[in-house]
Amino acid sequence: MCGIVGYTGKRIAAPLLLSGLRRLEYRGYDSAGIALATEHAIRLWKKEGKVSEVKNEIESDPDQSIISTSHTGIAHTRWATHGPPTTVNAHPHKGNSDPKVVLVHNGIIENYRVLRTKLEAEGRTFLSETDTEVLAQLTDSLYQGDLLDALTKALNQVEGTFGIVAMATAEPGVLVVARRGSPIVIGIGPEETIVASDASAIITHTRNAIYLDDNDIAKINGVEIDIRTLTSARVSREASEIDWSPEAAEKGGYEHYMLKEIFEQPDAIRNAIRGRIDVDKGNAILSGLNLEPREMAEISRLLVVGCGTSLNAGLVAEYATEDFCGMHAEVEQAAEFRYRNPIVGSKDLVVAISQSGETADTLAAVCEAKEKGALIAGLVNVVGSTIAREAGRGIYLHAGPEISVASTKAFTCQVSVLLMIALKFARSRRMSIESGRCFAKAIADIPALVEEVLKTEDEIIKVAEKFAQYDHCFFIGRGYMFPVALEGALKLKEISYIHAEAYHAAELKHGPIALLDENMPVIALLNQGPGMEKTMSNVHECKARSAPTVGVITQGDEEARSSVDYAIEIPACPMHTSVVPATVALQLFSYHIARIRGCSIDQPRNLAKSVTVE
Ligand code: G6P
Repeated sequence: MCGIVGYTGKRIAAPLLLSGLRRLEYRGYDSAGIALATEHAIRLWKKEGKVSEVKNEIESDPDQSIISTSHTGIAHTRWATHGPPTTVNAHPHKGNSDPKVVLVHNGIIENYRVLRTKLEAEGRTFLSETDTEVLAQLTDSLYQGDLLDALTKALNQVEGTFGIVAMATAEPGVLVVARRGSPIVIGIGPEETIVASDASAIITHTRNAIYLDDNDIAKINGVEIDIRTLTSARVSREASEIDWSPEAAEKGGYEHYMLKEIFEQPDAIRNAIRGRIDVDKGNAILSGLNLEPREMAEISRLLVVGCGTSLNAGLVAEYATEDFCGMHAEVEQAAEFRYRNPIVGSKDLVVAISQSGETADTLAAVCEAKEKGALIAGLVNVVGSTIAREAGRGIYLHAGPEISVASTKAFTCQVSVLLMIALKFARSRRMSIESGRCFAKAIADIPALVEEVLKTEDEIIKVAEKFAQYDHCFFIGRGYMFPVALEGALKLKEISYIHAEAYHAAELKHGPIALLDENMPVIALLNQGPGMEKTMSNVHECKARSAPTVGVITQGDEEARSSVDYAIEIPACPMHTSVVPATVALQLFSYHIARIRGCSIDQPRNLAKSVTVE
């Protein structure tokens, strides 16, 4: 979704802002823009399309005076919500035609229509259809020489969410930033300050950063930072170190971020489980949960909420919790949860899963569950993100930055951590130390299982080559393999645009089977474990209707191999941990199909890395 960068300091701002925007491209966007300030003026360059087009505009501008001298500027990548992705709707937006105030904004101003009507009645005219221009004009109308004061007043009239960076012509060198529900990170360099909506735009310049809290507003003048609340109280926010290196956000020789992230999984999972597994005691050490054994014993239900890939990971938790802990567990789409008036209370632990920690629906579900008195734990990758902070307790994934829009390593780390949560609950209830040791060992073995699958990439490519030409396909699985089927289908449709649907294998006969013919391949999760024989029967039903079949099978299982047209092997392991290698095999399958079809793998059309609007 939208991305923000701002700069004030000793260096020339334009190249820094452009490279910051490129680092935010992964979030998904459809237009971009930059505003630069000097002592006397602010100028804007905006363009529908890619950041490279804004760069061309700037480089081919006959008047380079501001570009080559400006030390202060703001920039934005926009993912259209209010109004189509046109140049005029792109950010930055200005307060009037001779801009006193210029700003960029992430989030949604919910009462923008009311505010716009009021401003129009005062004689203001609008160029764009955006809610952001309303905020720019409102701030402009309140401006009397102090941007901090004007933006504070404007934001006190606003309903909705925002991450904002603003500049004023009369205050060169000054940026004012604010947040509510949409992150702003302030990177502190020796002679400069770089602000952004996520750390990836800052990390090459500094790792020393302040994360603003909701309803914070800050005036930044060079390296001076004055933080207040929107009620004008001065506050101080501790700086912390961004815990990943700039190289982690580079492609590192891979053709795509997605492939790099697929191959990073053994290390990512090792990081996620490091220090958290005690094989001797057959238990997991999850201090971030901050639950004493007595409190754990009092929890009667695990409620997991998330969206997209994170939701699929949640389904694995439902199976594992019921299997091993003898405890009720439910997984729910976060948007449904927030509007359904769910029955939750103090005996429920609500686990909110989110790679970004910013997904609007998951965040709202957390707030709703909190309101109803449930305990909340976040299972989040991005440190300091809104859901992590809102949850108060939780477990960071430590998967490192995930740049590809299609999530890979976050999913396998989520599953690994969810299995550790299940182990901890199981041990606090009926599971013996011996069984706990087996469970703990199985989790510790996951990275090696993934390494085995990655070695079979060439075999998977051969299967992908056979299936790249189809336009539809089904994924089927049972038990733990049902979430794998869901995640496999999601990955394939996200990056290859093939229409892929996942069904519980038993559901095939209740409708989907009507669609089977030689143009509808079926990918079946057939690795050994409970339910596998029945799924094998379903595969025979598919073959009888001429559907081409692929099986994800256990290494050396000749019977399964002979039941399908093509096989992808994963190592033998318990069913609950096989979720991870089976998913990794399907990630590679989808990746190579999308590559063969020439798709934009890291930034698929219409998708955003984190969905911060409803
Ligand atoms: C978007 C992304 C998905 C992701 C989902 C949830 O739709 O494209 O890859 O799974 O959001 O994101 P979260 O950051 O909450 O895990």
